[in-house]
Amino acid sequence: MEKKYYIKTYGCQMNDLDGMQMGRLLAKQGYAATQDPEEAAVVLINTCSVREKASQKVYSDVGRFRSLKLKHPDLVLGVTGCQAQAEGAYLQKRFPYLDLVIGPDHTAKLPELIDSVKVQRGKVTRVGFEKPQDYEFVNLLPDEDESDVKAFITIMKGCDNFCSFCIVPYVRGREVCRSPEEIIAEAKELAERGTREVMLLGQNVNSYGVGRHSEESLKNKNPHPMISFAHLLQRVADETEIARIRFTTSHPKDLSEELIAQFSSNHKLAKSFHLPVQSGSDTVLDRMYRGYTRADYLDRLARLRQACPDLAISTDIIVGFPGESEEDFEATLALLQEVRYDSIFSFVYSPRPKTTAALYFEDDIPLEIKQDRLQRLQSLQNRITLEKNQEKVGQVLEVLVEGPSRQGESYFGKSSQNHTVHFDADENDVGSILKLKIIHAGPNSLIGERL
Ligand code: SAH
Ligand code: SF4
Ligand code: F3S
Repeated sequence: MEKKYYIKTYGCQMNDLDGMQMGRLLAKQGYAATQDPEEAAVVLINTCSVREKASQKVYSDVGRFRSLKLKHPDLVLGVTGCQAQAEGAYLQKRFPYLDLVIGPDHTAKLPELIDSVKVQRGKVTRVGFEKPQDYEFVNLLPDEDESDVKAFITIMKGCDNFCSFCIVPYVRGREVCRSPEEIIAEAKELAERGTREVMLLGQNVNSYGVGRHSEESLKNKNPHPMISFAHLLQRVADETEIARIRFTTSHPKDLSEELIAQFSSNHKLAKSFHLPVQSGSDTVLDRMYRGYTRADYLDRLARLRQACPDLAISTDIIVGFPGESEEDFEATLALLQEVRYDSIFSFVYSPRPKTTAALYFEDDIPLEIKQDRLQRLQSLQNRITLEKNQEKVGQVLEVLVEGPSRQGESYFGKSSQNHTVHFDADENDVGSILKLKIIHAGPNSLIGERL
């Protein structure tokens, strides 16, 4: 079989980037990417386990690839990512034809683990966590000809927050930060290859510089190797040619004044902020172990809006958390009306293994009620999103051109506030930031024309 790989990734941007890094590691071994698993010598399912539904997909995928494995016994079939960490050896027991199970801390070893499957013709499971100081970030850049207008940069891994509902700290381990020098060097290199926008990634970027540091960052000769997240944003802006900087995810409890000030002083920082609230009810927030109240959250938001009046705000919401009463839920609806988010991501609560909520709080809200709440929440937000989009008609937005739209003949790009905008352009415009006047607004995107 030809040396080709197929990787299917689920989950968040951090997992997306891990999937890309696995591809780049395999490319260094002479593998080419394919979209067709039938012609691949290595098939990896890079999984997410944040909700029950996400983890169920893994089982159906692994089941689906069984026939491939029967057809091509030399195929290396693996599960990577968070569900691999969560279930480890159980996955190999349940699916005996599975060759590889690799947790997120072992991505760097992917090529040698594939070799050991091939040489020993045996199964390999590698899960668990490295000591934080030994953690190895994989930071391969895309090939020059595959460079994109936008790129992700990992600034830290793991999460130390242990929100009561969340599996991430158990599947991604402790927080480890990369040194600012490595991050800046990567941003510079990306800019040289034509990247205009970077998204700095971590599960809780606001605690950057506070937690543990990677071996490389400890070895760093800089006498003051760690800096705050706000300082990092300033340095990426000052020291690189990157035109626009985004980041995710930010925890409300750790939102500093210094970071708020960045939104008025750092003009490369995109005017959009994802600040997950999870619930508008203080009793629910308390049982979620979020570390802030509704009033704290609103206060921080007010200060952010003072620093940057046209800042777009998005959030994550969970409905049907254990013990959530109709009143609690209505407090969340009222929060949506008060904040008027530009967009939200909303989910039905699902108990996850090992988490405090799953162990100690009864999952007592019936599924019909959870789904009804989700639907009410989403229809309220859809109305708000459309109204907020319509307010943009007549305004001029700065749009980074990404490429041709999927349908039709137009091009598309993102505004600083993260709206998707469609407009007439050509290949030469890709990578430019255009000033576009908004002439139409829909629920999901805007239409603009050049000034
Ligand atoms: N680090 C990010 C969140 C990562 S998980 C943060 O702190 O904001 C992304 C979102 O999934 C969370 O914000 C939450 O809304 C949702 N989520 C996490 N665990 C969940 C669970 N058990 N059930 C339903 N939604 C969940
Ligand atoms: Fe999960 Fe909370 Fe960490 Fe976000 S901050 S990844 S919700 S534990
Ligand atoms: Fe899912 Fe893991 Fe990300 S659980 S949300 S892929 S950190």
